[in-house]
Amino acid sequence: MTTPAPGSPARTTADAVLRPMRWWDVAAALPLERALFPADPWTARSFWSELAGIPETRYYLVAEDPTDGTLVGYAGLRAVAREADVQTVAVRPDRQGTGLGARLLDALLAEARRRGCSEVLLEVDVDNAAAQRLYERAGFTRVSVRRGYYGPGRDAAVMRRRWGGEVAP
Ligand SMILES: CC(C)(COP(=O)(O)OP(=O)(O)OC[C@H]1O[C@@H](n2cnc3c(N)ncnc32)[C@H](O)[C@@H]1OP(=O)(O)O)[C@@H](O)C(=O)NCCC(=O)NCCS
Repeated sequence: MTTPAPGSPARTTADAVLRPMRWWDVAAALPLERALFPADPWTARSFWSELAGIPETRYYLVAEDPTDGTLVGYAGLRAVAREADVQTVAVRPDRQGTGLGARLLDALLAEARRRGCSEVLLEVDVDNAAAQRLYERAGFTRVSVRRGYYGPGRDAAVMRRRWGGEVAP
């Protein structure tokens, strides 16, 4: 776990409770989405569309502060047949570096395994060192680069996590 910066409150992942994301969480997710992804934030319609997707193909979680119920993070997975994609992982800035991103990602990966997926893919901005570190720590490796994926001059790294030839439980 990362040590909080001097003067910042000592937070641990135990300060957040994970639960399924529901449509009524979208209003609280939007300000965080705009703050964390200012260049191309998801809209309410984007979230609703994901949450309205066939339940067997989607898995969205929120992390909330158990003391006041405020939303401190969210993450989403798309899983079709044996392949899954991490759609998003987001942690409120004051909770970043406490292990919450890793906890959300672990929950997505566990669900992908539970659903029988043998690999999980994602795109991440090549300049987003924090996210790439998070994914590397979870066993993802870079498989390619998509030029201009996020717009002119903004490339995405495609990363993949595979589970050998084992049969998922
Ligand atoms: C990426 C993000 C989800 C990580 O969440 P987090 O709660 O801060 O991550 P964790 O505390 O679980 O840390 C996981 C790893 O990432 C590393 N990390 C976290 N913040 C970092 C930063 N600013 N710079 C470099 N590495 C960082 C941690 O050091 C840790 O690695 P370690 O165990 O080797 O120390 C969070 O920074 C975030 O919401 N960023 C904005 C949205 C975003 O970019 N999402 C990903 C889109 S693809």
